[in-house]
Amino acid sequence: MKIPLQMLQRVSAIRALISSSVRPARCISMASGPEKTIRALDAGAMSKQFAVNAVGPALVLKHFLPLIVRNRRAVFACLSARVGSIGDNHIGGWMSYRASKAALNQIVRTASIEASRKLPLLSLAALHPGTVVTALSEPFAGSNRRVAADAAAGNMLSALNRITEGETGIFIAYDGSRIAW
Ligand SMILES: NC(=O)c1ccc[n+]([C@@H]2O[C@H](COP(=O)([O-])OP(=O)(O)OC[C@H]3O[C@@H](n4cnc5c(N)ncnc54)[C@H](OP(=O)(O)O)[C@@H]3O)[C@@H](O)[C@H]2O)c1
Repeated sequence: MKIPLQMLQRVSAIRALISSSVRPARCISMASGPEKTIRALDAGAMSKQFAVNAVGPALVLKHFLPLIVRNRRAVFACLSARVGSIGDNHIGGWMSYRASKAALNQIVRTASIEASRKLPLLSLAALHPGTVVTALSEPFAGSNRRVAADAAAGNMLSALNRITEGETGIFIAYDGSRIAW
């Protein structure tokens, strides 16, 4: 597949942005571990989670939206998490991770409203991958069922393929079901 030069330049620009401003050090989306209580909240760890989970995807959106063509169908999805749902939060905990994913969801929703004015064939989605076998979920796996990363990717692609034209600014799971904001 031939990737347009303008697209490659944007990718390099985003890499530079992320390594200089969003990722001062190697950090993962869960940063230093989820809090069980508000007493464990740490400003630095919380900021890092917002940088990785909300600011990073927002910058990617900023740089990629201008490259999307008006007359061609496109889907742009960000990896969110069900625990970012405010309406579905019944057990608390994980304040920084939840809040950073809720912020991501708001970014997706807000961008979708602006984008729909110029890009009617674009769908923007916040996407929950399911509980996937990765380093992030490992410490919390217990006896919970987890799916392999390649199966999760397949599920998510199927869900994205089922999004119809005109559906945008949505929060969905790997099986295509809607999640409460
Ligand atoms: N796993 C789950 O069950 C689950 C559930 C809900 C939502 N999610 C969301 O899905 C997304 C992916 O999660 P995951 O479980 O795959 O997380 P992960 O195991 O922490 O993997 C994060 C990925 O980011 C890369 N990465 C981290 N820091 C980097 C850096 N400084 N430079 C370049 N690459 C870096 C890692 O690369 P390396 O492989 O090279 O380390 C890895 O590929 C996250 O947004 C997470 O919140 C995951």
